[in-house]
Amino acid sequence: MSRAPRCDRTPAWAALGRHFGTGAHALDLRDAFAADASRFESFSFEAAGIFADLSKNLIDAPTLDLLLALARECRIAERREALFAGEPVNATEGRSVLHTALRAPRGTAPHGDEVHEVLERMLGYVERIRDTATSGIRDIVNIGIGGSDLGPQMVVPALDAWVHRGLRFHFVSNVDGHDIAPVLRDLDPASTLFVIASKTFTTQETMANAHVAKQWFLDHGGTDTQRHFVATTTNVAAAAAFGIDTTFGFWDWVGGRYSLWSAIGLPIALAIGAESFRELLAGAHAMDVHAREAPDARNLPLLLGLLDVWYRNFHGFTSRSVAPYHQGLRRFPAYLQQLEMESNGKRVDLDGEPVPFATSPVVWGEPGTNGQHAYFQMLHQGTDVIPVEFILVREPTHPYADLHTKLLANGLAQAQALMLGKRADEALGEHVPTASPDIAPDVLARHRTFPGNRPSTTFVLDKLTPAALGALVALYEHRVFTSGALWGINSFDQWGVELGKALCNDLLPRMTSGDTTGLDGSTAGLLRRLR
Ligand code: F6P
Repeated sequence: MSRAPRCDRTPAWAALGRHFGTGAHALDLRDAFAADASRFESFSFEAAGIFADLSKNLIDAPTLDLLLALARECRIAERREALFAGEPVNATEGRSVLHTALRAPRGTAPHGDEVHEVLERMLGYVERIRDTATSGIRDIVNIGIGGSDLGPQMVVPALDAWVHRGLRFHFVSNVDGHDIAPVLRDLDPASTLFVIASKTFTTQETMANAHVAKQWFLDHGGTDTQRHFVATTTNVAAAAAFGIDTTFGFWDWVGGRYSLWSAIGLPIALAIGAESFRELLAGAHAMDVHAREAPDARNLPLLLGLLDVWYRNFHGFTSRSVAPYHQGLRRFPAYLQQLEMESNGKRVDLDGEPVPFATSPVVWGEPGTNGQHAYFQMLHQGTDVIPVEFILVREPTHPYADLHTKLLANGLAQAQALMLGKRADEALGEHVPTASPDIAPDVLARHRTFPGNRPSTTFVLDKLTPAALGALVALYEHRVFTSGALWGINSFDQWGVELGKALCNDLLPRMTSGDTTGLDGSTAGLLRRLR
């Protein structure tokens, strides 16, 4: 396959630039809704059970047409097929990228036999451990970092209603001992299972914590490491050298940040059980089918990826905030940070040429309504425009209906406020008992004016089930693929994390010896200060 054109080298890109400059930059959402009674219907989409309202975004039909032309000219559909087919789309590492195969029914995707062999074996193991009366296990500690941590750490609380009530889950990732120490403090070796999760089984933080855990286990009367330690890794030999026989493997074609569907999902499966884990996979697969088969104009991950490019490269927005109105999704923004920023935080294209445009936005957020009482002030009245993604779930898994109604009303209201804003004359007419008696009314009104026209997307899930969560995560994966493919970068390597690792290895012995020879002045000074 010849190299597909980079976005900025297409006629559609030039047309988008003209379109932006000649009017699209000034699109006003309030006017757009006033002019088009069916705007909500026209810009609402549904994919694998996820409803998405894109109508509060700074787009109209001509913008969308040009963005879809950009997708065609960048041959996104062809590149997506290359991904699904297992072509080496991770060119710098010569690897396929086949997380989609991990959730495909047997016989429908590459590597089906290996995938299903590990899955069946893992789910059999899971059911034995979940039989707590027999297994004796009460606490499960996942030790891993990055993609070997964030997926399970995000999914287990999100699916709390499905979690085995006799098991407690702990996640240790940081090489900071303040992470593992409070976890170990309350554990009994006889009823604890440690999952050592590392694709490479060489990651400094994970290996250090794994050794601490093993030593703690032995020091506290633990006797059967084989029963109490399990590894999820592509490096079975290294796990064996560490002393772990029970290993669930995966493969180099599974990227760390795309690995929750693989053996890395073991803590998830332990938490929610085999059947629900299969539902999680099925939900993601349903989104894969949508991504592959939905026509471009209704293809939700494609549209989101195009919107990302529109905002990043034409509007110049630097970040995107994610606001899940579901406490269970509290780690979702952190999960997305790795998924998106490690994937698309790149500055050269597939040919190694510097790209002359911006790539990954900063992705950040907190669950609603907490964020409202922290940084939403800036979203409403700050000088930056930051598109927000609201995730609302219609049906809760708790019995407190009144709380849920308030939660949803808050989410809706924030999206509404961002768009509608408040004019100075409206602010001027308001009675404000908390205002200083010394401030002039027109000055106060300027402080209380909201510009509005701030874009947002609202996703609505009927219920946060395993299937719905699977679909949601896969939606973001495909969207990240889309924007990365448009930018012509490799979304599947992560060389940017290497340099710090290498320098840390150099500094480590110096922390003990105090040798600062050859170091820059700042690092040398700080090292002396820290010893
Ligand atoms: O931070 C870089 C990285 O390689 C991530 O991509 C990965 O998810 C993480 O480290 C953990 O790696 P491993 O699973 O090999 O321990």
